[in-house]
Amino acid sequence: MYPQEIISDVRALNDILDVVSTYVQMQPRSGNHFGRCPFHQEKTPSFSVNQDKQIFYCFGCGAGGNVLNFVMRIENMDFLTALKFLADRVNFTLPDKKNNPSAVRQAAQRELSAELNKKAALFYYEYLHSENDDAMDTRDYLEARGVDAKLIKRFGLGLSPPEWDGLIKHIPDANPADLVRAGLATESKKKPGQYYDRFRERLMFPIIDNRGRVVGFGGRILKTSGEKEAKYLNTPETNLFFKSKQLYGINIARKAKSPEIIIVEGYMDVLALNKAGFANTVGVLGTALTESHVMLLKQINCKTAVLVLDSDAAGIKAALRAIPLLVAGGLKVKVLDVSANDSGAKDPDEFLQKHGRLAFTKVLAEAKNHITFQLWLEKNNHDLSTTEGRIDFTTEAAKIIATLSSDIETDAHVKEIAQATDISPAAIQGEINKLKGTSSKEINLPRNLPLLRKTEDRGLRDAKKGLLSLVLADSHAAKALNKSGFIAPDEMGGHVYEKLLTLAFENAENNIKPAPADIISYFEEAEEQQQVAEVFFTSQQYSDVEKALNDMAQIVKKALIKSKMMQLTDLEAIKHMQIQEKSLLQQYISMSDG
Ligand code: UTP
Ligand code: MN
Repeated sequence: MYPQEIISDVRALNDILDVVSTYVQMQPRSGNHFGRCPFHQEKTPSFSVNQDKQIFYCFGCGAGGNVLNFVMRIENMDFLTALKFLADRVNFTLPDKKNNPSAVRQAAQRELSAELNKKAALFYYEYLHSENDDAMDTRDYLEARGVDAKLIKRFGLGLSPPEWDGLIKHIPDANPADLVRAGLATESKKKPGQYYDRFRERLMFPIIDNRGRVVGFGGRILKTSGEKEAKYLNTPETNLFFKSKQLYGINIARKAKSPEIIIVEGYMDVLALNKAGFANTVGVLGTALTESHVMLLKQINCKTAVLVLDSDAAGIKAALRAIPLLVAGGLKVKVLDVSANDSGAKDPDEFLQKHGRLAFTKVLAEAKNHITFQLWLEKNNHDLSTTEGRIDFTTEAAKIIATLSSDIETDAHVKEIAQATDISPAAIQGEINKLKGTSSKEINLPRNLPLLRKTEDRGLRDAKKGLLSLVLADSHAAKALNKSGFIAPDEMGGHVYEKLLTLAFENAENNIKPAPADIISYFEEAEEQQQVAEVFFTSQQYSDVEKALNDMAQIVKKALIKSKMMQLTDLEAIKHMQIQEKSLLQQYISMSDG
């Protein structure tokens, strides 16, 4: 990693509006520039660039950051590649990498872990191709399961040898502690200083991130007899491997450049789908789908996610939990149940084995959109031959349909339910309107339930953002707030706001004022960067800064007290808190003495 100064230089040399304008047509409007967001589909421009602050922010999808983040995202580059790209653009020569504090050490650790994992992958791959008996057996096993040489190569499958230190011996120059950090070895509890391989006698699936680094492994057990060991052993969380942020096969799916990504549960399913020609497939690594996964999918330009989860109860539960996350990410969501129509298959691998590629292509084309899928599940929960069952089903169905924002889609599903239940469309629509909190005449106001919940604390969020943007811009205000002790960083709710308030305080004390675009680069995750960009985009001009500071601080403080009070169950404590509240809220933050 380069020192922060170099990164700032490259950033400063590349005007964000210039860079963005080579991808998006931008028009000036009220101090900012607006265009159509390149990161989500939209008809009216809500993607904005603020040239003064050198940041971008999309009011539609929340994408935001500085010029480096923009390039990373639109070009699908990692940070260093984006930095080089921008340096080249202005003929800036990057110096040799210099030493700099802990960030450099951590980056070096990660690189070392990646290197060791790559060496391990090669070792396992070679071992699988050796003439040892276990290697030959494993190749037979793979062949029997339809995994051919091409697939083995494409996914770099391997085999870990049975010895307790096969890998350790193979990389003799590696420090055992580094192998432990890389998730490849473990230290004996009984005999400290004694190390052994984490993976032994397992079929090895290297997990490769979308930068092409081997970050970890899944190891499938081969021997069927013996102790009750887990079927799959995965790399533990390391400095490089987080299973909630990784998707198996993402490196290959990315290259498929398909707007549709198929999400499956197992390693073997990813392999089987690749064999059938669906390289646009990723697998979750034995966890629930997370927001980080959704971000990853968006990074590879996914527009539609097809959930093909195992059709047991757990698979259905997983799908139901994944749907809202994917929808919130702006993706179209479809669900495919491979066990439908008595296919006799519990997962896509089995389906392909039993029915072949063409049959799969057919069911994939017929995958239900997520609303239809949820309605179908609900229908199976009720006995539609009774009036009671029909009413119960309609009530549940209305809840599902109420999450839709499109009137056209809503209407289509209302008709569908009406037909299935013999309940009038007007009654169903009425139920939906009730859930959306509108009368039947004004169905246009709040669009869906999650949004409704959001608006409740909108005022608080705005106050927090306003307060942060004020103290970040005005060091007097920052000093005054800091000195008053009225709100501490750890009360701001969430890591990003906490860090921003800390930065505002520190910078004010040290009399420095980094550019907003530089503050953004203190944050590593895209989600965090977006939140920071959002803060900077809320700034306003105040005729009376002191009053604005007090107003917003009061709103934040009141909400803090309220939420603390809600957690109290003891009357005495509540009374005590109320007294405290009164005196707290009388406090006035003065900017003149300081
Ligand atoms: P499955 O048991 O369906 O595995 O678990 P699979 O990939 O289809 O393997 P085969 O067909 O039996 O060989 C689905 C996924 O859940 C995770 C793995 O990611 C696996 O691919 N898993 C499963 C674990 O992490 N640990 C386990 O012990 C089992
Ligand atoms: Mn399977």
